[in-house]
Amino acid sequence: MWFSNCRQLILINFYSNLKRSQVKYWSSLPLKDSFGRKHDYLRISLTEKCNLRCLYCMPEDGVDLSPKSSLLQRDEINRLARLFVNSLGVKKIKLTGGEPLVRSDCLSIVNDLAELKSIGLSTIGITTNGLVLGRSIKKLVDSGLDSVNISLDTLRPEKFELITRRKGFNLVIKSIEQCLSAGLPKIVKINCVIMRGLNDDEIISFVELTQDQQLEVRFIEYMPFDGNKWSQGKMLPAHEIMKTIKGKYGDEINPIAKDNPSDTATLFTINGFKGRFGFIGSMTQNFCSTCNRLRIAADGNLKVCLFGAEEVSLRDPLRSGWSDDQIINLIESTLSRKRERHAGAINISKSPNRPMILIANRMFSSFSLSSTSSSTINQTHNDGKEPIDQQSSDDNQLSHINQHGSAEMVDISGKHETRRVAQAMGTIYIGPKVIKLIVNNQLTKGDVLSTARIAGILAAKSTANLIPLCHLIQLTKVTIDFEIIDNEMIQIDCIVSTISRTGVEMEALTGVSIAALTIYDMCKSANKSMVIKEIKLIKKTGGKSDYQIPTTTTTTTPTINK
Ligand code: GTP
Ligand code: 5AD
Ligand code: SF4
Repeated sequence: MWFSNCRQLILINFYSNLKRSQVKYWSSLPLKDSFGRKHDYLRISLTEKCNLRCLYCMPEDGVDLSPKSSLLQRDEINRLARLFVNSLGVKKIKLTGGEPLVRSDCLSIVNDLAELKSIGLSTIGITTNGLVLGRSIKKLVDSGLDSVNISLDTLRPEKFELITRRKGFNLVIKSIEQCLSAGLPKIVKINCVIMRGLNDDEIISFVELTQDQQLEVRFIEYMPFDGNKWSQGKMLPAHEIMKTIKGKYGDEINPIAKDNPSDTATLFTINGFKGRFGFIGSMTQNFCSTCNRLRIAADGNLKVCLFGAEEVSLRDPLRSGWSDDQIINLIESTLSRKRERHAGAINISKSPNRPMILIANRMFSSFSLSSTSSSTINQTHNDGKEPIDQQSSDDNQLSHINQHGSAEMVDISGKHETRRVAQAMGTIYIGPKVIKLIVNNQLTKGDVLSTARIAGILAAKSTANLIPLCHLIQLTKVTIDFEIIDNEMIQIDCIVSTISRTGVEMEALTGVSIAALTIYDMCKSANKSMVIKEIKLIKKTGGKSDYQIPTTTTTTTPTINK
C-alpha cells in the first residue's frame, strides 16, 4: 500500500464493469450536437486507394496506404452502419474513398446497407470518379443505391489525362450515360473542381450539359492540401464562376431550393434546361451552421468535422468487443464536442494540410496537433512522397512526432495485448471543518465522495478524449478509493485495469484529477482555500517495464490555510 499509516480508512470502493446502464449517456434520436444540429448524414470511406491521380487531390506517386488489416472490414462497416441508423437516427449514408469502387466488396456493402432501409435509412449514395462505375451501376441500383456523384473536371479527353494523370475519359462519360438510364431515384451529380487557367474555359460547356440531361453540375472551389500545389490565384471563387455564367445566360438563371437545408451546394437552373447547376463554395462559404455530417474513415476513425482535428477510433472498440451501447456512448460523446464552426478555409489554407484523399481517410489516424509545424521539418518532408503517418520507431526520430513536425499518436497495433494495471494517487487538503461536513453528508451540494467517485470513473474512461495523444482503451475495471487523513485531507486513489496494447497510467491520473476537482467543486462554498496536490503515478504493471514510486516521495506536508 502506498498510503501512510494511522489513517481512518474509509469509504468507497467502487467497481465499474462499464455497463451502459450505470453511465449517464443515453442515446437520443436524432443524434444532435451541443449546438442542436441534427446529424443524420454519415459518410463512410471504403478505401484510401484510387485509380486516378487528380492534380488537386492526390500526389502523383499516390499516398502511403494503411495496412489492409487496419481498414474496416465489411462486417464492421455493417455493424457500425446499423448502429448509426438504428440507434442514432442516421438517414443518409454516402460511400466515399479514395475511390470506393476499387474495393471488391463495394456491391456487397451496398446490399448490406439496403437492409437498413427497413429501419430508417432513406438514401444510399456513392461519390466516385466513374472510371469503373459503368460495369456495376445496374447491379448497384438493383441492390438499393439511390444516388451517384461523379467527379469530372473537363469535357476534353486530353485535358482529362492532364488533370487525372491517367486515361479514362471515355469510360467516365459512358458511366454518366449509364447512370442516367439506370433508374437512380436521385438526380446524378457531377462534381467539377474549377481551377483558373486549367478548366475555367469550360464553365459554360458544363452548364450546357444540363440543357438536355437531368444532371446536377456542381462547381467546387479548389481547396488546398499538401502536395496539390494550391494557390489563391488558381482558386476561382463561386461568385466569379457565376459571373461567367451570367455573361451568357443573364436573366435566364433562376435559383432553386435545395433538396435539403444541409446540402452544401447552392443551386440554379436555366429556363428550359432539364438539369441544374450549383456551387460548392468550400473556400468562400461556410456550411457549418447547417452541418449534418459525420465521417468514418477507411480505418474506422470517426471524424465530426471535415476541417477539424478531432477523431476517435471506432474500429478499436469494435475489435475489443465493446457492446453497442458503449459504442453509441462514444459516438455521442465525440459529437458533443463538435465545434460550432471551423476556422475558415482561407485560414486553413495557410497551414499544412493533407491530400483530400487522406482528409477523407488517414488524416484521422494521425491526429495532428500542430497545424503550424516547424518550417525546417517541412522543408525536408513536404514533397508529398514521404509516408504520411509512418509511426517511426527509428532511433533518430521522436516517436510521437511525424514527418510534418506534428505530434501524433503512436501506432500500437504491433504491440502485444497484456493485462495492465496502473495506480495513481492525489490529495486534496480541505481542513477539519469541511471534512466533518463531508463525513456527515451535510454539504449543500450533496454526497461529495459518491459524486467524486463517479466523476473519477467517467473521467478515466474519457481520457482518450481529453489527452490528445492517448489511445482509446477499453478499461476492464476502474476503482476509486478515498481515505481521510489526519482529519484534514482526503487522499484519492484510482486503480485502472485493462487488457490492452498500451498502459493506463493516464487513465488513473485523469481519474484522480477529476475526482479531486469534483471534491473541490462540491466543497468550495465552505472553503475556497483547498489545495489539490501531489497527483502522481504510484505504480504500473504489465507493460514493457513496471514502475513503482520510491517510498520517500509518497507523502508531503501541506501548507494550507485551514
Ligand atoms: P450530396 O449532396 O449529399 O450528394 O453530397 P456532397 O455533395 O456533399 O458530397 P460529395 O461527396 O459529392 O462532395 C462534394 C464536395 O462537397 C467535396 O468536394 C467538398 O468540397 C464538399 N464537402 C463534402 N463534405 C463536406 C463537409 O463535410 N464539409 C464541407 N465544408 N464540405 C464538404
Ligand atoms: N478541392 C476541391 N474539391 C476536391 N475534391 C478532391 N480534392 C479537392 C480539392 N482539392 C473533390 C472531388 C470529389 C469530391 C469528393 O471532392 O472532386 O468529387
Ligand atoms: Fe460540417 Fe465541418 Fe464541413 Fe463545417 S467544415 S460543414 S462543420 S464538416
